[in-house]
Amino acid sequence: MALNEHKTADAEIERLLDELTLEEQISLLSGEDGWSLPAVERLGIGKLRVTDGPNGARGNSAPQNGKPSAAFPVGISIGSSWNPGLAEEIGAAIAQEVKTKGAHVLLAPTVNIQRSVTNGRNFECYSEDPELTATLAVGYVKGAQGEGVATTIKHFAGNESEFQRTTISSVIDERSLREIYLRPFEDAVKEAHTWGIMTSYNRLNGTYTSEHGWLLSDVLRQDWGYDGAVVSDWYGSHSTAATINAGLDIEMPGPSRDRGAKLVSAVQAGEVSEETIRERTRAVLLLMQRCGALFDTKPLIERSEDRPAHRALIRRAASEGAVLLKNERELLPLADHGQTIAVIGPNAKHARIMGGGSSQLIPHYQVSPWQGLENRIGSDRLLFADGCTNHRWEPLWRSDIRVDFFDNTSFSGDPVHSEMVPEATAFWEHEFAGGKVEKGNFSARLSGCFTAERDGIHRFGLATAGYGKMYCDGQLVANAWDGWKAGRTFFEEGCDEVVGEVELVAGQTYDIVVEFKAKQNILMKIAALRAGIGFPMGDEAISEAASLAAKADTAVLFIGRNGEWDTEGSDLDGIALPGRQDELVRAVAKANPRTIVVLQTGGPVEMPWIDDVPTVLEAWYPGQEAGNAIADMLFGDVEPSGRLAQTFPRKWSDNPAFSNDPAIYPGLDGSVTYGEGLMIGNRHYEAAGLVPLFPFGHGLSYTQFQLSDMKATASGDGVEVTVTVSNIGSRSGAGVVQIYVRGPSGSDIKGQRYLKAFVKQTLAKGEQCTLVFHLPARSFAWFDTEAGNWRVPSGRFTIEAGLSAADIQGVADCEMAEQTLSNSSPTRFTVQNILAE
Ligand code: BGC
Repeated sequence: MALNEHKTADAEIERLLDELTLEEQISLLSGEDGWSLPAVERLGIGKLRVTDGPNGARGNSAPQNGKPSAAFPVGISIGSSWNPGLAEEIGAAIAQEVKTKGAHVLLAPTVNIQRSVTNGRNFECYSEDPELTATLAVGYVKGAQGEGVATTIKHFAGNESEFQRTTISSVIDERSLREIYLRPFEDAVKEAHTWGIMTSYNRLNGTYTSEHGWLLSDVLRQDWGYDGAVVSDWYGSHSTAATINAGLDIEMPGPSRDRGAKLVSAVQAGEVSEETIRERTRAVLLLMQRCGALFDTKPLIERSEDRPAHRALIRRAASEGAVLLKNERELLPLADHGQTIAVIGPNAKHARIMGGGSSQLIPHYQVSPWQGLENRIGSDRLLFADGCTNHRWEPLWRSDIRVDFFDNTSFSGDPVHSEMVPEATAFWEHEFAGGKVEKGNFSARLSGCFTAERDGIHRFGLATAGYGKMYCDGQLVANAWDGWKAGRTFFEEGCDEVVGEVELVAGQTYDIVVEFKAKQNILMKIAALRAGIGFPMGDEAISEAASLAAKADTAVLFIGRNGEWDTEGSDLDGIALPGRQDELVRAVAKANPRTIVVLQTGGPVEMPWIDDVPTVLEAWYPGQEAGNAIADMLFGDVEPSGRLAQTFPRKWSDNPAFSNDPAIYPGLDGSVTYGEGLMIGNRHYEAAGLVPLFPFGHGLSYTQFQLSDMKATASGDGVEVTVTVSNIGSRSGAGVVQIYVRGPSGSDIKGQRYLKAFVKQTLAKGEQCTLVFHLPARSFAWFDTEAGNWRVPSGRFTIEAGLSAADIQGVADCEMAEQTLSNSSPTRFTVQNILAE
């Protein structure tokens, strides 16, 4: 059957398909460069332009480059907002940013599931839970596409870690796939009608997802009725006939490796039919038509628009996503009188606004917690100590650095191009060095100086995608050249940082040189480097911070991680706070009982000091307004109204993916088996009898909520759940009411608890509201792989209403009759909020 009959009827697209030659059709099935498809000038067909997301629109450049853009909260912050309306607003605002970058398609949102707590891209994903992820994805997609910008929901599917990410096979049973990992994609297709979808890098059960016929044709197109376009992840296509026949429409980036002339030959050889080419081209033209690219022949102009409305949205979103984990003695909000505050920690004066990898962008500006506090109360009452460091790589070497480029790999002859840069980091993409060198065939020498501020051992760190050496006053200090080995920088195409130590004298200036030679024949053709110089902090820094804390009325610790840890291309080894931060917290908490910890991380961390600290606020990476938003929350101008979208286990080994069997985590012999099956997230902790540090759905407010009058009644094929939520505290706030369902014991759902509906409800002090949730039959169904459909088992289901997975305040039973559901049966719950008069 032809794909999407109603769309094939589109006369304009059919006319173009008739007019396009086979070669022209094929030209539209792969990129021209990193971020666009080629135009077909003869027919007036424009260029489709894409930009990364998901937390902003960087435009036509690789990460770390590009014109400034608005930096929005990362996925886990949006996930913790439990607010699909907010996700929609953010999707719409980012779509406006996409337009300022001359693009039509946003490579977002990321909806992989937080299977482990150590995934490098944990920060980019919304939640460990499929219902929550799906609901937020629907919001985001609707918001962006409502602005006429296409979303490309990613990474389809089974991309839950970064370990060996471009080759690993995720081995996932079909039921877990359907019920957990595919669900956000299913809803984005059926409910939000996403126009684009991106395959993942990994293989799924042995086959690359970019050439996975079952995934791309049977499930996506047939079962779900998808009529949009499927694009590969960057360099994630590995074949010609197999990808096109499986249903991959676009190979990215360009220039093509697998298509173009190779695809023309494959058609001539009868490996791919002309009808298939036409079908794939149809999907591309339809995508172009939908997002206004079809006849868009405007030249690319990229602008930066720092809009007040985006600033305000980002600031508000940051507090909607922030989670108040603990607040004993109601230390927060801080009283606005003349108290002194010791501002301590490695994240205090650094704005931690986003994670690392392809989602990075250059923000319009960024506000650190220190600046946020200064903006709020001035600096007179603020004291500062950093206490320790938390970097993964040595801090970037900053200086007036001259870069000389050579058009060979041996630094021979005169430089063909020279330029000055302020810091020793580079990600060389298409046009660089004035266009005078080729990416795989050049060398570069960086030279400048460094003046030591302190006496003692300094650490010189160098990481390169390519070969590199770093010298201090002519002495080789870091060698990432001889014995270079692929490691965990630059999307797994760079080595691990190589560090050398040198004793320096305060006040003395040293000549620093970094030499770089490009590598050839690598998957992503990345040429990049970062060189840093750091001064390790010792015990005195911690004692100084503790003494400072003792002098102040309140100590606020800004600790956590940063985008060096929470990054695409590299998983974490564990979830202990990096460096000496745990020691720092203990020392400060001992010195001042009024200690508040503000965490900024891309996922859960262990908190061995939790009993010593009265207050903990998790603020994630909330975008460019970070510091202002944190100050808003600390002083109670707004409340942090997020709830955990991912359980915080007490320790990494409590996590469902943790296993002593490397085949289950992180992977062995090229594959990783999702051996825990359905038992991920909060279900795992409950079933294993593990009390988490903070449960799924948990988050305090500056007021209190209570649930009452819960009822559940069968209604149509599903169930109607009614519950009343009241604000019984002393100020207005937003509570998140969560509806969980347990299947009948003995059934195929086996009594496990699943989140099935939720709503975030703002209530004034003393106000109450009746919520009516409509849960469709799918909320009670499991996927029967033998029958190939969804089935509701007969029996008594238990429905729970709670304020977290561990704070259930209402329970009701509901008898369900057996039902078999078609693949098109609705997945989504709805909710009505009836505010009391
Ligand atoms: C990432 C994608 C991203 C693409 C383009 C890949 O490394 O996995 O999420 O959209 O690069 O930057």
